[in-house]
Amino acid sequence: EKGGYDSFMEKEINDQPQAVADTLLGRFDADGRLTLDELRVSPEALKSINKIMVLACGTSAYAGQVAKYAIEHWCRIPVEVELSHEFRYRDPIVDSNTLIVAISQSGETMDTLMAVRYAKEQGAKILAICNTNGSTIPREADAVLYTHAGPEIAVASTKAFLAQITATYLLGLYLAQVRGNKFQGEIKDILADLAKVPAKIQQVLDGAGAIKELGQLMAGTSSVLFLGRHVGFPVAMEGALKLKELAYIHAEGFAAGELKHGPIALIEEGQPVFVVVPSPRGRDSLHAKVVSNIQEIRARGAKTIVIAEEGDDAVKAYAEYVFYVPETPTLLAPLLTTVPLQIFACALATAKGFDVDQPRNLAKSVTVE
Ligand code: M6R
Repeated sequence: EKGGYDSFMEKEINDQPQAVADTLLGRFDADGRLTLDELRVSPEALKSINKIMVLACGTSAYAGQVAKYAIEHWCRIPVEVELSHEFRYRDPIVDSNTLIVAISQSGETMDTLMAVRYAKEQGAKILAICNTNGSTIPREADAVLYTHAGPEIAVASTKAFLAQITATYLLGLYLAQVRGNKFQGEIKDILADLAKVPAKIQQVLDGAGAIKELGQLMAGTSSVLFLGRHVGFPVAMEGALKLKELAYIHAEGFAAGELKHGPIALIEEGQPVFVVVPSPRGRDSLHAKVVSNIQEIRARGAKTIVIAEEGDDAVKAYAEYVFYVPETPTLLAPLLTTVPLQIFACALATAKGFDVDQPRNLAKSVTVE
């Protein structure tokens, strides 16, 4: 049942092209028209929304953070992302024009369920993005958009994460369509790029040997930092979470721009730092800024491990190791840049002799608050 792999986690990492493809399947036509039938919220109701709040925990919350960048850009609706367990303890502003997007792989996470119930009492509409058919959160929600990742057995989430991100893209594009924020042609182009992603994930998986070796080589490491910017920021945090969960070592993800506001003090000789570099084709000179962050930490002795877009030669000079992912529009990049970080954590933890499917102290679904 592990499909020839040593662990469910490895299998699930390798299932990711399929998980993304299946989540996209049947949800838009050749003209780029989305039909999310199972949503069960009328287009009129979606037009009246003036705020989206994503509620989730752990990896699912990082999917929500990626969603914020995409949905705000495509739909011009403010998107807040909040950890479910913080939400109802701070008198949040929620009303009937708020769309709550509850993201949960299991659909049983008690923190998220309680947050959903609270938001519902305030009159908000609830949309669940969930991987488990018929679980509690989608049953209590007004609408559901299922991720089709298939059962995720390993405690550490991998394929569900990519499927959740994919589902939020579909939601964002659907909202843009019904609210008329984007020309149909633009939506069609983005969907065409999205349709190419599964094959690109496969390319990353096919080239996984080098990152696996690095994970094995670094089995003695006691701390790893992760830097990212824009959508690369939640990817950095997800990379750090995987390493904490699986390898039990200190790992932390930072927004690259935050470095000089504190975290750079952590850099000393030999400190490994992963840097998720934005595409050099993107706007806003973010690429140049992150490259200069790499230079800054390298000058202070950091061992820099860079995830960059194919063809980005500028990073080579400052990187101990570079792992390339295929070109894709910036907003879609997390579907590719996350994968090497998952493989790294899995390989490092395996090299330490840990059970990657059942990390200590953790449960697959957290059904207590
Ligand atoms: O089932 P959920 O998506 O609601 O679970 C949320 C978190 O508990 C979950 O993502 C957790 O952080 C994973 N162990 C991450 O690998």
